[in-house]
Amino acid sequence: MPSIHLQTEIPGPRSREISAARQQHVAPGPFHTTPIVAAHAEGAVITDVDGNRFLDFTSGIGGTNLGHRDPTVMEAIARQAEQFVHTSINVVAYEGYVRLAERLNTLLPAAAPCKTFLANSGAEAVENAVKFARVATGRQAVIAFEHGYHGRTYMAMALTAKAHPYKSGFAPFPAEVYRAAYPDFYRWPGVAGDPGPCPGGATAGCPLERCLCREAFAAFAEMARAQIGETNVAAVIIEPVAGEGGFIPAPAPFLEMLRRWCDEHGVVLIFDEVQTGFGRTGSLLACQQLGVTPDLVVMAKGLANGLPLSAVTGRAEVIDAVGVGGVGGTYCGNPLACAAALAVLDRFDDPAVLAHARHLGVRLRERLESWATRFPRIGQTRGLGPMRAIELVTDRATKTPDKAAAQAVVRYAYEHGVILMACGTHGNVLRFLIPLTLTDDQLDESLAVVEAGLASLG
Ligand SMILES: Cc1ncc(COP(=O)(O)O)c(C=O)c1O
Repeated sequence: MPSIHLQTEIPGPRSREISAARQQHVAPGPFHTTPIVAAHAEGAVITDVDGNRFLDFTSGIGGTNLGHRDPTVMEAIARQAEQFVHTSINVVAYEGYVRLAERLNTLLPAAAPCKTFLANSGAEAVENAVKFARVATGRQAVIAFEHGYHGRTYMAMALTAKAHPYKSGFAPFPAEVYRAAYPDFYRWPGVAGDPGPCPGGATAGCPLERCLCREAFAAFAEMARAQIGETNVAAVIIEPVAGEGGFIPAPAPFLEMLRRWCDEHGVVLIFDEVQTGFGRTGSLLACQQLGVTPDLVVMAKGLANGLPLSAVTGRAEVIDAVGVGGVGGTYCGNPLACAAALAVLDRFDDPAVLAHARHLGVRLRERLESWATRFPRIGQTRGLGPMRAIELVTDRATKTPDKAAAQAVVRYAYEHGVILMACGTHGNVLRFLIPLTLTDDQLDESLAVVEAGLASLG
């Protein structure tokens, strides 16, 4: 039986009515990808207030990686709600926070011993990671990357690369933030066409005549030397796969070189795994399959499968640098969210969950690559595991971004029952943030809609 079921025009009358009220009463700032209003969600399916069923290819921007209302997570939330929902960890502690930290501390074996700080959102965790790094090193400068997205609070905004709509009008930003080129080799200077994925092997010797990882690292190191001075750098923050910036994987050899540079200069390496974490790339954290361990990892989104929770986990000596009262917040590490996150980790203890995610990633990659042979508007298909995307261009030679095409496909998709999002510095990337519990049939059903959307571009 198909998951998609549309029984009204899209948006339906109730969705239109509530959207009109939203326009009147709600700040216009939060963007809306679709005009659909949710009534119920289960697994990969969202049912709207008009009784239409959609397949969700966004997972609430990567928040519900295990699907909506995962039964194990729901049960844990219900059990915790029977006990208490809030005391504040600053006042009366609770075991869930402690046990969750204990488990997150095992995720970075190469950085052991680790400690964890919990907060509410990804941006808040990013802010705190910078605080830990600055106090631990006694330095100020933070290096972020082009295409980077780290959130909406002031430091997170400063670290974020894209001006419109994230930063425009909100200046001034915190000082001592510097930006390096991200290893985006599709758009790297002097690269014609699609260079394809990095073949790896920088440590052993890159097989390519022109090693782009080395070029990108050399550009980074020179910027740090000339513009900041290595001894002034507190932290480098990077997403292992640039998420909002366009689902661009950072090749492992580049990250290895960054790791060595941080070790050499006493700099805290922070991986922002807010979007790449919790199975999104086929491993619990992306860094686990890339073989590079950061000093601090920032997590959120899939951590509590839809409840607001974030974490900074990393080397105890860095986390311990901030004294009592230096970080925190009323709701940081809320008991319901901690219970949900412990249930999420229990779910990932079953190897079948990540195996299925990887299986979906392979099927998705094959399908997107087959589209690239058919649709000349696809400039590149890329990703890591099931975190996949296609970049749309007006023509492959000039690589001119085609944002209008991406928007048209997003619209076609929701009008035909699939909720999809674009991303990218140029807004021209279609990203697939599929629920990792999606069935093969649901994947096929959704991809047929997206394929028809691409075909409709003409
Ligand atoms: C990599 C990354 N970091 C930070 C954030 C900010 O997280 P939040 O929206 O929970 O503040 C996001 C959100 O999309 C993200 O993708």
